[in-house]
Amino acid sequence: MNWGAMDRYAKSLIKEAGHHIKHSFFTEIEISSKSSANDLVTNIDREIEQFFITRIRRDFPNHRIMGEEGFGDEIQSLNGVIWFLDPIDGTMNFIHQKRNFAISLGIYIDGIGMLGYVYDVMADDLYSAMKDEGAYLNDIRLPQLTDTTIEESIIGVNASWIAPNRYVENNPMIELVNTCRGTRSYGSAALEMTHVATGRVDVYVSMRLSPWDIAGGMIIAGEVGAISSTLNGEQSSLLEQETFIVSNASIHSQLLEDFIVLKK
Ligand code: IPD
Ligand code: CA
Ligand code: CA
Repeated sequence: MNWGAMDRYAKSLIKEAGHHIKHSFFTEIEISSKSSANDLVTNIDREIEQFFITRIRRDFPNHRIMGEEGFGDEIQSLNGVIWFLDPIDGTMNFIHQKRNFAISLGIYIDGIGMLGYVYDVMADDLYSAMKDEGAYLNDIRLPQLTDTTIEESIIGVNASWIAPNRYVENNPMIELVNTCRGTRSYGSAALEMTHVATGRVDVYVSMRLSPWDIAGGMIIAGEVGAISSTLNGEQSSLLEQETFIVSNASIHSQLLEDFIVLKK
């Protein structure tokens, strides 16, 4: 496999898709809900996924695709080349804010992440990484993260996980909020992972993320030394929805041991 050529191909596809998304603001966007009233999807999410899938199937017929909107393949194993695609990560932001959403893409071979992309469409910021070749924001290489402490960290966490909820004990989470320097929540898991990769925040944690939310960002974050795992400390399976943390390596185990206690 020529990964350099694949990288150029993926980047041009992403930029073209980004252009379609920007243009969609001049059209009437159809909004509907999926699993719940706040789980939103638009015709643009679907059209962008179909755009990627048509191109990938035409140019790489042996590759498989897992996409959020369901136009891809049924993926039950990680064999071969798989593209994990979220055509719009942060659909609520896309609808309400018209910014702070991203295209998220990860390309894996036999479960190993080779190419990762998170494209902040409105900022025109493309975060990318190739395995063992470093991570980039546009053409600028991102530096390795330096060690930190929880006291000096900004924690990326959604307020849902601080309020009583069915996934995680919220009292240790309150203690974490009180111990750290500050908290942030941006509403796009993929962008939040790039914030960890650039050191703008030091950890991002979520109780429920799907493979297409994290596949691209994990490669980018890994290239600057961040650690990604489930909240049990295991590697994400990329086959189902799971808990998730990506953090500066120096605080990862302390966060899991002292502050993030999953409910039984
Ligand atoms: C969602 C966003 C959100 C995260 C949710 C995701 P979507 O993705 O990343 O920030 O909290 O868990 O499902 O639905 O906008 O693609
Ligand atoms: Ca998503
Ligand atoms: Ca999405």
